[in-house]
Amino acid sequence: MNQALFLRDNVSFQDEHPAAGDSRDELLAGLRAEPKTIDPKYFYDALGSRLFARITRLPEYYPTRTEVGILHRHRQQIAAHCGVSCVFIEPGSGNCEKVRLLLDAVRPSLYVPVDISSEFLRAAALQLGGEYPWLAIAAVCADFNASWDFTRRLPLGKRVVFYPGSTIGNLEPADAVRFLARVKEVVGAGGGALIGVDLHKDSACLTAAYNDAQGVTARFNLNVLLRLNRILEADFEPAQFRHRAFYNTDRQRIEMHLVSQCEQSVGCNGSRLRLRQGESIHTENSYKYTVQGFAALAAAAGLALERSWLDDEALFSVHYLRAT
Ligand code: AVJ
Repeated sequence: MNQALFLRDNVSFQDEHPAAGDSRDELLAGLRAEPKTIDPKYFYDALGSRLFARITRLPEYYPTRTEVGILHRHRQQIAAHCGVSCVFIEPGSGNCEKVRLLLDAVRPSLYVPVDISSEFLRAAALQLGGEYPWLAIAAVCADFNASWDFTRRLPLGKRVVFYPGSTIGNLEPADAVRFLARVKEVVGAGGGALIGVDLHKDSACLTAAYNDAQGVTARFNLNVLLRLNRILEADFEPAQFRHRAFYNTDRQRIEMHLVSQCEQSVGCNGSRLRLRQGESIHTENSYKYTVQGFAALAAAAGLALERSWLDDEALFSVHYLRAT
C-alpha cells in the first residue's frame, strides 16, 4: 500500500506505480498478427498528446466542443443526478479540463483524478487545487485498465465515475460491457456513472472528423510509428505509410489504419517485418452508438440509463447511469 502525500492542503497524491508493462511484447504480438494492429493507447506520447489536443480544436472534429457544450448547458441537471457531496472519480483525467465545467454545480466532497502519467497528473491536480481551494482532491497515479484497487481506500459516500470524451468508443463493445461492469462494482448499488458517448450518424460528418483538411489526424496516426521505433528499436519510415480513416457502417465504428505505400521490410526488434504494398496496420477503432444501443450496453453491465443529454443536432451524448 502506498502512502498518500500532500501537494498542498486540499490536494493529496498517491502513486500506485503502474507497471510500465509488457508494451514490447504486446506491440510485437500485434505486428505479427494478421491483420496487423497497434493498440490506440500508444498514440499518446508527448507529441501524440499535443497532436490530440490540436485535434480537439479542429473545425471538423465536433466531439470535444459538442460535449463541452452539453456538460456546460446541463450542469445543474447533471449535478442533481450526482446528488449532494458525491465522491467524483475520473479515470484518465488528463489535464482535468472537462471536470471544471461541473465542479461548481456538482460540489463533490472529493474529486479523484486517476491517470497513468504521474508528472502530468501531479501538475494538473496542483493547478486545479489552486483554482478550487474549497475542493478536496485525491489524485491517484494508477492504470485503471489493470486495477481499481485504489478505490478501496476512498471515503464513504455516493460514488460517481466520470468518463467523458467517448473514450469508451476505443473498446470493443464486449470490452465496453466489462469496463462498465467494473465501474458498477466500484461505485456500488446506488452509485452512478456520467459517460460521454459519440453518436452514430451520417458517414460524411464522421469521416470528415477523422480526415481533417490540415492533416493533424494523419500526423497523429503516423506519429505512432515513431513510438514503435523507440520501443522496439525499429526503423519504420512514416513517409512510406499513408493515413486512412473511414466509417465502417456495419460495425458502427471509425477505423484508422496506416497503409503501407510499397512492399517493404522494416527492421524491428532485431529482426525484419515484411509489409505488402497496400497492407494496413489497424491503429484505432472508435465505436459510435445510438442512445438505445448504449442503453443496452449499460444494461448488460448492470447500469440503468437514468438520463441522456444530447446537443440540438444529436451529434454527441452524455449519459447518467445508475448502478442497480
Ligand atoms: C480519444 C478515442 C475519443 O476516437 O475520436 C481522435 C481519438 N482518434 N481522432 C476518438 C481520436 C483520431 C478519440 N478518442
